[in-house]
Amino acid sequence: MGLVWRRVRDRFRAASLDTPELDARLLAQQAFGIDAMGLIRRERETAPAEWVEALDALAERRLAGEPVSRIIGEREFWGLKFQLNGATLDPRPETEMLVAEAIRWIEHHPAPYIVDLGTGTGAIAISILDAIPAARGIATDLAAEALTAARHNAERHQVAGRLSFRQGPWWQAVPHTELFDLILSNPPYIASGVIPTLQPEVRLFDPELALDGGFDGLEPYRAIAAQAVRRLKPGGAVVLEIGANQGDPVARIMARAGFSRVEVQKDLAGLDRVVLASHS
Ligand SMILES: C[S@@+](CC[C@H](N)C(=O)[O-])C[C@H]1O[C@@H](n2cnc3c(N)ncnc32)[C@H](O)[C@@H]1O
Repeated sequence: MGLVWRRVRDRFRAASLDTPELDARLLAQQAFGIDAMGLIRRERETAPAEWVEALDALAERRLAGEPVSRIIGEREFWGLKFQLNGATLDPRPETEMLVAEAIRWIEHHPAPYIVDLGTGTGAIAISILDAIPAARGIATDLAAEALTAARHNAERHQVAGRLSFRQGPWWQAVPHTELFDLILSNPPYIASGVIPTLQPEVRLFDPELALDGGFDGLEPYRAIAAQAVRRLKPGGAVVLEIGANQGDPVARIMARAGFSRVEVQKDLAGLDRVVLASHS
């Protein structure tokens, strides 16, 4: 089996894929129906012809530009595996910064109540509930099909009893009576006009609803900010993921919405990544 997946790795290398070995291993595990350890343990066994064919078929999809996570239908995020479907964004490692910030904010709270607006796979809400057993929350999305994946992921990670799901646009999906300790969102933040210029791996495989932030990429922040102050409990905060150059405009939107303390945090690459808004 080692020979078979290495041959695929070499094809990926020749095609200048970024992570040829990792991609080949993950696709081999999928095609052979075995885990990472199994692939190592069975290195010297001969792979049945149908396994080789199955791997070749997956390799062709990868060579045509489909991301590995889309081919295998799941992505690891915050150490947990999340099922994807056609309506979900493929969760990005950058979003783990938002999760870390959220956990830092509520880890000493006795029973934090959170909302994740535009939850997609549920990656943000589920990671936080997994890390903080006393936390409960609501996860929303406009895409009903995304919520199907999020519900499945919540069950898989045993947080479904503490997370409810609501379908609809931003705050309209959340009952007016609900107030939160933490409002979270990684909304679509790409300006509509920029979408046709995105890399094919994003443009062709992530749903447009998960990417398109309107004419200037900031429409979802305006919609979220509009009700954020009145939806927070005293001492609560809003934590938003933002695009690389959106620190100033999103900070302005949050300040105008009534937050007295607004902080823009940069990621390890030095790019704007998270906005934290609260009352000092
Ligand atoms: C950038 S994706 C983030 C998904 C997930 N939270 C993550 O970080 O991986 C944005 C999400 O917002 C959802 N969305 C788009 N427009 C929305 C709206 N008007 N109301 C609620 N959710 C919306 C999309 O369906 C998508 O799941």
